[in-house]
Amino acid sequence: MKTLKYLTQQQLSFYQENGYLVIPDLVEKTMCSKLMQRADELVETLRPEWDRSIFTTREQARNSNEYFLSSGDQIRVFMEEEADQLATHRVNKLGHAMHDLDPVFRSFSHQALLADIASDVGFQQPGLLQSMYIFKQARIGGAVNIHQDATFLYTDPISVVGFWFALQEATLENGCLWALPGGHKLGLKSRFFRKGDGTAFETLDKHPLPDKGYVPLEVLAGTLVLLHGLLPHYSGANLSAKSREAYALHIIEQKASYPHDNWLQRGAEMPLESF
Ligand code: FE2
Repeated sequence: MKTLKYLTQQQLSFYQENGYLVIPDLVEKTMCSKLMQRADELVETLRPEWDRSIFTTREQARNSNEYFLSSGDQIRVFMEEEADQLATHRVNKLGHAMHDLDPVFRSFSHQALLADIASDVGFQQPGLLQSMYIFKQARIGGAVNIHQDATFLYTDPISVVGFWFALQEATLENGCLWALPGGHKLGLKSRFFRKGDGTAFETLDKHPLPDKGYVPLEVLAGTLVLLHGLLPHYSGANLSAKSREAYALHIIEQKASYPHDNWLQRGAEMPLESF
């Protein structure tokens, strides 16, 4: 049996059996606050760019698609799909290379502790592929439908693991994660890829993901949730008065092959880095 660096054998076994693992108290409260404050600063800086590139143009759909597809090696702000009654667009998330480009998120993402956890769950040469800051704002934050992360961050063999950090308490009321225990054993159902100027889904297994059997992952601020790339999961809309901010970092195995038609592409000047 291999020697573990951070996880207990019991934690690793739970992860392998269930496809997820909740690790409370991984992030100090002061660090949660620091990341939240930094995210607000980034929105303040980046929102004018979003306004310019999308909101002021008549070709919104095409520009919005291009804005998303070219965000793999940038930090960009994304809005909720549903504008609220005042027709103002509210921030949904930041993505997708904050772990590379922003000093605060970079140093948080490159902690040795996370490298130890990645090693424990089986990575040989982990690569920090993608990051997102999710705001899930009070009464505004939209739902995220059932999906597997490997649909969007595909490698051959499949290797993606999500490191999902709760920076605020996540509850049933404010849209916590829901996961299907053991669902990572069902195989990959579909793959999202670039097609022409846009994107498409390829069905790999005609049996859809189950819509029952999910358990809520209610967690306190500072908790890390590990999510196997094949684990079906979702989160509900935030109907409460409390926001549910989280930071998600997605790791892939550098030895796995990364298709040229994955939606997320990084420029040659930004090679994948390890921890
Ligand atoms: Fe996800």
